[in-house]
Amino acid sequence: MKFFIDTANLSDIQEAYDLGVLDGVTTNPSLMAKEGISGDEKVKAHYKAICDIVDDNVSAEVIATDFDNMVKEGMELAKLDDKIVVKIPMIKEGVKAIKYFTSEGIRTNCTLIFSAGQALLAAKAGASYVSPFIGRLDDIAFDGMDLIDQIVGIYGNYGFDTEVLAASVRHTMHLIQCAEVGADVATCPLSVITGLLNHPLTDKGLAQFLADHKKANS
Ligand code: E4P
Repeated sequence: MKFFIDTANLSDIQEAYDLGVLDGVTTNPSLMAKEGISGDEKVKAHYKAICDIVDDNVSAEVIATDFDNMVKEGMELAKLDDKIVVKIPMIKEGVKAIKYFTSEGIRTNCTLIFSAGQALLAAKAGASYVSPFIGRLDDIAFDGMDLIDQIVGIYGNYGFDTEVLAASVRHTMHLIQCAEVGADVATCPLSVITGLLNHPLTDKGLAQFLADHKKANS
């Protein structure tokens, strides 16, 4: 399973990259706003800065909601760097835009996926990734993980190349369950990735090893 970090914060991206387990980055307009990034030129410069840190897979979301402007905006984003994946919302115009980008050989990530039907449409349009939002479904008492499982099954039935990018991953158990049901990718905050490191028996065991070593060598 690939690990993406879901942030526009450069130091978090660098820290995850330095850990050696990072396969990509997802951003969205809210995450860019959280970092205080606004205005076309600053947004583009920030995407370039993210691309300079990681090896591939930087999802950059279009703001437009009509086909012509999604294509225009997406083309500009794609030109920034080969690592850019154009992120498109799951709306009718978005499906058309995904089809267009696919025909141009430009990778897309179809975002705001909340049903298997939406995931099927995005795959048929040729999306490189679909992003079903687990946490936001859990928030309204639907099982987000069931949706991941369902989409993985459907794509498997027909051999779609579209990768299931589990999004809105809020805690380490989401990440583990994504791996169990076979999500291709999970995107989450840095704290969720580093949360995988923790186990009290590891801390206890290491403390004991170091204490025994010190005793034997004093
Ligand atoms: C996905 O690409 C989104 O940026 C993200 O995962 C949404 O997560 P949230 O529901 O925690 O905002």
